[in-house]
Amino acid sequence: MKILLTGSSGQLGRAIKKVCPNSIKLLTPSKKDLDLAKEDSCRNIIKNLNPDLVLNCGAYTSVDQAEVNSELALAINANAPKFMAEELLKSGGRILQISTDFVFNGEQNYPYQSNQKQSAINIYGSSKSLGERYIEAILKKQKQLIILRTSWLMGGMGNNFASSILSLHSKKDTLQVISDQIGCPTNPYTLAEICFRSISKWDDINSPNYFEKPILHWCDDGLASWYDIAVAVGEIGIELGLLKKNAKVLPIMSKDYFSKAKRPKYSLLNCVPTRKILGQEAKHWRLSLKNAFKKTFNITKA
Ligand SMILES: NC(=O)c1ccc[n+]([C@@H]2O[C@H](COP(=O)([O-])OP(=O)(O)OC[C@H]3O[C@@H](n4cnc5c(N)ncnc54)[C@H](OP(=O)(O)O)[C@@H]3O)[C@@H](O)[C@H]2O)c1
Repeated sequence: MKILLTGSSGQLGRAIKKVCPNSIKLLTPSKKDLDLAKEDSCRNIIKNLNPDLVLNCGAYTSVDQAEVNSELALAINANAPKFMAEELLKSGGRILQISTDFVFNGEQNYPYQSNQKQSAINIYGSSKSLGERYIEAILKKQKQLIILRTSWLMGGMGNNFASSILSLHSKKDTLQVISDQIGCPTNPYTLAEICFRSISKWDDINSPNYFEKPILHWCDDGLASWYDIAVAVGEIGIELGLLKKNAKVLPIMSKDYFSKAKRPKYSLLNCVPTRKILGQEAKHWRLSLKNAFKKTFNITKA
């Protein structure tokens, strides 16, 4: 199978390259060969490479910057998957679209089901939501798509909350971290494996016997605030020898922390149906985060 991976330099893209089975031919064009902000580039890459499947990890992921660069966020997160989907409809190829918990508004206090109405509260979330709706309209009937939503990717290679906090622990005595936004971290290496597992269960996921729509939710087990994660990162950092000391973490409220974009207060995803169809249990986020750090920093001790 020939898979075109977009966003291969990103956190998830790098994890996918690490866990990709040998039987798969993984195509990883650079930004020079695929600019997701450009229509021609998105169409030509499908026409030229004719992939069996696009694993679309490429995205405009800066949630705050998206508020000021909304056109670019829309181009990359909504239009790029649309243009690729239109070409895939012609070629018969499929797309596994990675999406986000930020398609929801965070106003409920129990986990979001995959078929719930979307109602994003920032530009990043609405651009990803629009991308989902575009490709669903183009490819759902032919069973050529799966949408895989995840949340709070961290612990892998590249920029992410856990790696930033790890570095802050070593530099600062105290850290102030938001404690009133609840969600769940996701180990990017586990998610990468879930991508390949989803591909292998394509027909089941696209069968109306299982899901109303081919939309999966995947994150680690449990729930956490950013504050909880910051505390855990300090402790895990010491346990794994990545830190000599950790900072004292102080909880703060969202209203006391300026950010350009609003963020959902609660964005936990209900992953039970996904775990069931894939036959895969999730690990608690703390253990999973430790495992991700171990993989990223090549640590072999228990
Ligand atoms: N990170 C999270 O917490 C999180 C949570 C939920 C869902 N997700 C979703 O998970 C997926 C992967 O996220 P991630 O954390 O791996 O993102 P990431 O680390 O920010 O990587 C994004 C990738 O997209 C590429 N990209 C951006 N603009 C591009 C363009 N114009 N043309 C071609 N490539 C471009 C980037 O390349 P450059 O580095 O060269 O710009 C990078 O390889 C995304 O769909 C994201 O929406 C992420």
